[in-house]
Amino acid sequence: MKPSFAALTALLISSIPLPGATTVKKSDFGKMPDGTPVALYTLTSSTGLEARIITYGGILVSLKTPDRKGVAADVVLGHDDLAGYLGDKGTYFGALIGRYANRIGHAAFTLNGAAYKLPKNDGDNSLHGGTMGFDKRVWTAKEVPGGLELTLLSKDGEEGYPGNLKAVVTYSLNGNNLQIHYTATTDKATVVNLTNHSYWNLKGDGDILGNLLTINSDRYTPVDAGLIPTGELKPVAGTPFDFRKPTAVGARIAQDDAQLKLGHGYDHNWVLNRTGKGLELAARVEDTASGRVMEVYTDQPGVQFYTGNFLNGTVKGKGGKLAAIHSALCLETQHYPDTPNKKSFPTAELKPGEKYDTTTEFRFSVK
Ligand code: BGC
Repeated sequence: MKPSFAALTALLISSIPLPGATTVKKSDFGKMPDGTPVALYTLTSSTGLEARIITYGGILVSLKTPDRKGVAADVVLGHDDLAGYLGDKGTYFGALIGRYANRIGHAAFTLNGAAYKLPKNDGDNSLHGGTMGFDKRVWTAKEVPGGLELTLLSKDGEEGYPGNLKAVVTYSLNGNNLQIHYTATTDKATVVNLTNHSYWNLKGDGDILGNLLTINSDRYTPVDAGLIPTGELKPVAGTPFDFRKPTAVGARIAQDDAQLKLGHGYDHNWVLNRTGKGLELAARVEDTASGRVMEVYTDQPGVQFYTGNFLNGTVKGKGGKLAAIHSALCLETQHYPDTPNKKSFPTAELKPGEKYDTTTEFRFSVK
């Protein structure tokens, strides 16, 4: 029987990629020590932006985007295989971070009169959700239009945090734009601060000291020796923290500045200039050599700018290459560090019946 004209037309239409359509492919990325399989999802946008994400830690393992000549490079640090990620002691390469990204001072906080104790995994403090944070869990994946939805249940009391928390994070591509949409709900009042910990190197290699950085911020949160904010919102004007105009990352990094010394370089939270509630420009990075540009848009109040100061050439990255200091930079959109202990900072509390709902976009282009 001859297929009808309508059936042929339908077949033809379904095989033409829709404008803006992103394809998603699943493959195997190995097994956890207890046998749990880990999957790798490859997202490819209509313009060729390619993101690879694994269900372990919701890690963005690679992001390929072209330079001004059209040559694609992988612009994030990572490991070659699951064994590399499982053996990693503390870089958080590309991972989803929770329940509370960044530091909580003295690994403790009180919420509505109740005291909570967290694991101390960074001196006296708790960093990136504790010893078994969201970056070390296998998430449940579901393909959705344009991307990948990852779900994680964090039990009441897990890593010291109150409330059963359901976190749903969606990675999606739209043209040259990588969007990460985070939601969470709880059955008990808790604190939530989710982010992605990608290490960006827009050149794809070498160091990031020559990258031109802009941060849309007039103030930052200075820290103590444990990198816990003092509570002050300090103007960036006249300091090496002023990135209101495009400035090379390395131009002032070695200056004799007390805050740069405490951070061993930049490892601070900037208070973003915001005018409303939606997505607004947080930061822009330009690699003049390749022409690659990345703009970070978010609805969050802060961004941690970290220059990979603790990469000391001992962690084996992709291709067995050792990750050197300043070989990448992080721009982690977030609530300010130690917010649960700082009443003056915008609250990170989530109550039952409320929805934590935030979005960050990484927009790529060339110049
Ligand atoms: C922190 C750094 C830390 C890095 C890796 C960043 O978010 O600010 O101090 O070394 O994560 O853990």
